[in-house]
Amino acid sequence: MRLQGKVAVVTGSGRGIGGAMARGFAREGAHIVLISRTLSQLKEQEAWIRGNTTSSVLTIEADVGSESDVQRIVDESVKAFGKIDILANCAGITMVSPSESLSLENWHKCLRINLDGTFLCCQKVGAHMIERGEGGKMINITSIVAHAAIPERAAYAASKGGVMQLTQNLGVEWAKHNIQVNAISPGFIRTEIVQDLISKGVHKPERMIARIPAGRLGEVEDLVGPALFLATADSNYVTGTILKVDGGWLANGYV
Ligand SMILES: NC(=O)c1ccc[n+]([C@@H]2O[C@H](COP(=O)([O-])OP(=O)(O)OC[C@H]3O[C@@H](n4cnc5c(N)ncnc54)[C@H](O)[C@@H]3O)[C@@H](O)[C@H]2O)c1
Repeated sequence: MRLQGKVAVVTGSGRGIGGAMARGFAREGAHIVLISRTLSQLKEQEAWIRGNTTSSVLTIEADVGSESDVQRIVDESVKAFGKIDILANCAGITMVSPSESLSLENWHKCLRINLDGTFLCCQKVGAHMIERGEGGKMINITSIVAHAAIPERAAYAASKGGVMQLTQNLGVEWAKHNIQVNAISPGFIRTEIVQDLISKGVHKPERMIARIPAGRLGEVEDLVGPALFLATADSNYVTGTILKVDGGWLANGYV
């Protein structure tokens, strides 16, 4: 087991990509701190991990955009497990709106959760890792929209572009502490967020798939292997990098 004895905090792990990463880390022996704003989601994930692995689980209902909540995540995790080795920042929201009518309130909401939330979790967990002196691993989640434009995603794209630059910056700044900070840019992954956009007609599956050389949408399990690479010693010489996991969407010039 590649993460035996490690402690992983996974935000946004009530469902979707974060849920899959938490289960993947637990299968490899890590103790898991599950974070979401929705307690019922956390209980489902907790039951799965307890039923299918030997890992210990702590669930914390928290808002990653709140500084005091994020400090509480760190304090409760360290109290329960003595340390944090891995942070995966998967909490996030999407925001689709014509830019000319996007309210400042929604712009701030998206930036607050996706960018402030990622920064706060990196900052508070980073302070713990630096003080402990044993290094650590951070995995942020950006998006293909941080690299290429999709109309009506101004707030979301700005937040994910910010996460990309934040990742690079922290990777450089904390290399001396043996903390590797990397990010994954997922393409279209079939989670509730994407299913919801498909059912509202915002996303057209045929159009999405037409640009994906792999010929299908991604599944949450497609993110687990890349996340494990970034969470284990396999990536000890990899920092400040952005790993695209998109079935070839960004590389594809033939559309
Ligand atoms: N699904 C995709 O195609 C896709 C593509 C690229 C990037 N992403 C990114 O991956 C991440 C996860 O996406 P997903 O599709 O799994 O979404 P999801 O909506 O299925 O899950 C998001 C999780 O984050 C939690 N969350 C939301 N706001 C929070 C907050 N303020 N504090 C704590 N928890 C909060 C939700 O409760 C939920 O558990 C997001 O950052 C998203 O932008 C998703």
